[in-house]
Amino acid sequence: MKTYETLLTEVKNEILHLTINRPDKLNALSILVLSELKDVMNNLPGEIRGIILTGSGEKAFIAGADIKAMDSMTPEAGEEFSKLGQEVPLLFEHAPVPIIACVNGFALGGGCEMAMGCDFIYVTHRAVFGQPEVNLGLIPGFGGTQRLMKYVGEALSREIIYTGRNVKWDEAIEIGLAQKAFGNKEEMIQGALNTFEMIKSKSSLSITKCKEVIRIGADSTLEQGLEAERTAFKWIFGTEDKKEGVRAFLEKRKADFTGN
Ligand code: COA
Repeated sequence: MKTYETLLTEVKNEILHLTINRPDKLNALSILVLSELKDVMNNLPGEIRGIILTGSGEKAFIAGADIKAMDSMTPEAGEEFSKLGQEVPLLFEHAPVPIIACVNGFALGGGCEMAMGCDFIYVTHRAVFGQPEVNLGLIPGFGGTQRLMKYVGEALSREIIYTGRNVKWDEAIEIGLAQKAFGNKEEMIQGALNTFEMIKSKSSLSITKCKEVIRIGADSTLEQGLEAERTAFKWIFGTEDKKEGVRAFLEKRKADFTGN
């Protein structure tokens, strides 16, 4: 993979470890960070089965959009910044493989918004979420006004956004924003790798189609979602992996999926 100024990328055992690496600025999302994230997502290596997104250092996952960069932005530049910030979680959602956000420390503003674009969120006991933009006279601009309500419901999303308050890891678990908690960062990454071991034992085609259809369903009517599911179900019937999975069950053996 290419090298980046603000990101660390490493593929190990078919998992891309993608780390935002600006620890001195608490991994704040500058235009460069967002552009590099976009570049990674548009050039994913073909052989990977999953992505772990995390932040460098012990203090922050991402402490938000770069406040210094926003200081001199015109409304037009602000719109461009929002467009770029909205593109990245959309690329996460359209990726062919699952992405687990591993949140240690602050996931504020754009950090919360990037995490919510991932498939699900693991946390340590140091994780703190929030959409504090109103404290700066701003509003969430990288998808927070839309995605937070999908995770926690509309009323709670309003309360969190209007107050700009912190949501600590245990509340994040309780309200369904985060899915699993771990004692420290190392255990959290191992937990994500364990989850990916389970996912890797399935057909990659099944996982990609599940991700696609869930995404479509989240943004459409039930009928449209069911239609997408039916179409994908039909498609999967034409794959070698479906034949292998069903046959393996009937022959009482472990399936050997090839991704075809
Ligand atoms: N954008 C740009 N720089 C940021 C940043 C952001 N969102 N968040 C933190 N930083 C920088 C700080 O300016 C500081 O840089 P400096 O050392 O050059 O002054 C460095 O990261 C460390 O942050 P600091 O505030 O000193 O750490 P702290 O432990 O005292 O506080 C936070 C941590 C997260 C509570 C605090 O940094 C904060 O409130 N950040 C902004 C959060 C936010 O509003 N995000 C949404 C933006 S729309």
